[in-house]
Amino acid sequence: MDRLTTNFAGTLFGLHGEPAHERIVVASDAESGLQAVIAVYNTARGPAFGGCRYWQYASDYEAYHDALRLSQGMAFKNALAGLPFGGGKAVILKRPEQMDRTAMFKAFGRLVQSMGGVYLTAEDVGTTADDMRAVQSETPYVSGIPRDNDVYGGNPSPRTAYGVFVGLKAAVQVAMGRDTLDGVSVAVQGLGSVGWDLCERLHRAGAELIVADIDAVRAEKARQMFGAQIADTGRIASVNADVFAPCALGGSITEAVAAECQFKVIAGGANNQLMSLAEGDVLHRRGIFYAPDFLVNAGGIISCVREYLGSADKQSVLDEVGLIAPRVFELAERVKVSGVAPARAAVAWAREMMVLR
Ligand code: NAI
Repeated sequence: MDRLTTNFAGTLFGLHGEPAHERIVVASDAESGLQAVIAVYNTARGPAFGGCRYWQYASDYEAYHDALRLSQGMAFKNALAGLPFGGGKAVILKRPEQMDRTAMFKAFGRLVQSMGGVYLTAEDVGTTADDMRAVQSETPYVSGIPRDNDVYGGNPSPRTAYGVFVGLKAAVQVAMGRDTLDGVSVAVQGLGSVGWDLCERLHRAGAELIVADIDAVRAEKARQMFGAQIADTGRIASVNADVFAPCALGGSITEAVAAECQFKVIAGGANNQLMSLAEGDVLHRRGIFYAPDFLVNAGGIISCVREYLGSADKQSVLDEVGLIAPRVFELAERVKVSGVAPARAAVAWAREMMVLR
């Protein structure tokens, strides 16, 4: 594919119809082969904090667009979680040729350092704590590294999964009037770091699982360990279940899925689940409660922020992540009062919070 032409849905400065991003850095490093985009959406609450994705994109502009959307989501996420940080995100373009990974992440660390603390990084899809250690050798503006003999910090995924679990449970209470997940059926898309941990928690809570992953080995393991039914990856969004938990990449709630799916609740870990807010409106009209991704998947960034600030042990972080549940209840109240869909109500709520420091 031509790497410069694609159906890129933004402008040089940001997303169509949205306030412009504060800063977008496109950088390359010839020696290590690094090609990266760092997008800073908003720093009204503090420096922009958000992970670094390492992914192979169909085009450069697709990567640019991903950085724009993900950084906006981080601004909403950090604001709703009450964190003293703005929203940013980095994307490193994965190339087919073999790279010296450590050299590349060191170069990325120098890039982060050159921004002087406006952007702080951590793991996201495709990056690991070891990558962040390489980044840390070049800059202090990094999180997601086990500290103090693993007393705090480290891979944020378990805290993300815990937050999704409590948020999903709250959403079930809102939409189905049930305060337990016993016997509730949940379709989980993606069994990676977040999806797998979520399945463990759901299974322990008595939920019935339907799972899909492009990695058939993971799906089979879920069948054996949790008695999960396996669905085809192309059909997981249309299975018959109470809850849909997207935990793979974004964009699972397409126009067709929003119009046809039979779930009562959608709550999962993946960023940017809705193709656009219009899909959220359709879900709302159809009586499906969508708990926005940037509300329920904040556990990881809460962990990274507390690690960065050097303050919290794992239990106090879990306690803070647990506050996602009351936020889901507050969102449901806002939806009731305003009559707008949860996705729009959550964006409006986040924008209110974004003017506060
Ligand atoms: P991961 O890379 O560990 O897992 C993703 C899983 O999805 C893999 O098992 C992969 O095989 C599967 N997958 C990919 N495409 C699929 C498809 N079309 N159908 C079914 N399965 C598919 O990633 P991780 O860390 O679990 O993240 C999952 C999502 O949660 C991502 O969207 C990420 O941005 C988001 N997220 C992750 C956080 C974290 O702490 N790890 C924090 C906040 C959001």
